[in-house]
Amino acid sequence: MLTIGGVKDTKRLKADLLSIYLFENSKTHDLDPIPDPKTKKKVESNIKNFHFKGKSGELLVLEGTDDIKRILLVGMGKKIDLSADKVRGVLDQAIKKANRLKVESLVSVIPAADKYLVNALEGALLSSYQFGGFFQKEDTDRRYTLKRLDFVTTAKNFYKIVNETQALFSAVNRSKDLVNTPSNIVTPSYLELEARDIAGKNKKVQLTVLDEKDAEQLKMYSFLAVGRGSAEPSKMIILNYSGNPKSKQLYGVIGKGITFDSGGISIKPGHGMRMMKADMAGSAAALGVFRAVSNLGLKINLVTIVAAAENMPGSRAYKPGDVITASNGKTIEITNTDAEGRMVLADALVYAQKLGATKLVDIATLTGACITALGNVRTALMSNSEEWAEAYLDSSRHTGEKTWQLPMDDEFDELLKSDICDMINANENKKAGTIVGGKFLEKFIEKNTEWIHLDIAGTAYLDAPSGYLHKNATAVTVRTIVNLLRNEAKGKKDS
Ligand code: BES
Ligand code: ZN
Ligand code: MG
Repeated sequence: MLTIGGVKDTKRLKADLLSIYLFENSKTHDLDPIPDPKTKKKVESNIKNFHFKGKSGELLVLEGTDDIKRILLVGMGKKIDLSADKVRGVLDQAIKKANRLKVESLVSVIPAADKYLVNALEGALLSSYQFGGFFQKEDTDRRYTLKRLDFVTTAKNFYKIVNETQALFSAVNRSKDLVNTPSNIVTPSYLELEARDIAGKNKKVQLTVLDEKDAEQLKMYSFLAVGRGSAEPSKMIILNYSGNPKSKQLYGVIGKGITFDSGGISIKPGHGMRMMKADMAGSAAALGVFRAVSNLGLKINLVTIVAAAENMPGSRAYKPGDVITASNGKTIEITNTDAEGRMVLADALVYAQKLGATKLVDIATLTGACITALGNVRTALMSNSEEWAEAYLDSSRHTGEKTWQLPMDDEFDELLKSDICDMINANENKKAGTIVGGKFLEKFIEKNTEWIHLDIAGTAYLDAPSGYLHKNATAVTVRTIVNLLRNEAKGKKDS
């Protein structure tokens, strides 16, 4: 990860590059961070000569001084459009440019004002993530060169904020690595190792792993059905963090951990199937949330459950037409073995409530229909509680992780009716595919439980970069859920 520091001013400073952010068409430019008056004048005239307007996305690299080799001007767009996300975006642009220029150290002003420090850090850390990959001989040009970033700031609690943000992003980046790593490495057993790594470091954390035998004793047949066609043993992984022993309130974060989704007997077409290594993105996010919350020492109690299995068409695989009984006694007729995420989540949700969790969030790459509806732009949210949903949506506006709530009318339940048992696992007419996924999960939620379901099928894994989001894994929902739990710990809402 980037080494991040702070400097009070740029006098006597040595750096490869200094980045400054300018609003569109402002008559006076804040060029004070350029310590040498002669260079400052030159930059001022170059802004005119090169027609730099300060528009969003505009970049200009200029010659600096002996100590600060180059100066990068970044357009901020119109002042009235200033936002946290804009600040994340311009930092991303500066870092990308620094890496293209093969620079090792960057000094950056905090765009707009010190109150955007966190957002500047977020932009920088989002931008500088890079997956290692598996090259025999790596093309050295591929590697990011930037190692050090210093902000020009007099913010009092600077290092406290830096440390907290870095703790969060070490969890975010870990989560991305898990999703980017292929399924021959990231198996359910590998997710168990990840949970062990988290638990090993913290006395307030307790780990329980249910193997297939344990799960059978608990009658988790819905969960077990999915992994039956695979040689990889399924694992139900439970992490418990006790950050507020005086309180009875227990939060639950549950992740879909399908380490590879071939579709099973209802097998998927070959084209694009390799993307299904990312079908454990929900569990990677849940583990990321848990790692961040326990590392930050938030004053809450949290249980994280990862329902990990591989969905394969082996000779023991579950089949269309099978009737399976979940751990709460509800019976499910299998219409499609490719609707496996909801099968593993059903038993995980029941178990979380058995452990006493009353405020739940589940995260899952659940439906292709979610990509049809919202593309790669927004996560779909479904909930049985307006208040809990609003708390999440509030948090997501704060973090910039775009989310959209879908309706949960009773009429949708019709689509899950079976002739022979309590429900089917997928409606063959595909109507309202994402909502039906949510409706299925809702059948495993008790009356007094507040619950949010997040369908991240479109947002967890990108085939093209979008602003500060890189291609491939995004670790989406980690930042929003950590922020949500932070708000819960403080008993406050985001404005
Ligand atoms: N993992 C998939 C959903 C998915 C598709 C995620 C594409 C990311 C990208 C899920 O298990 C699945 O196969 N869902 C089925 C549900 C259907 C059978 C009701 C789907 O979307 O086709
Ligand atoms: Zn799946
Ligand atoms: Mg599937």
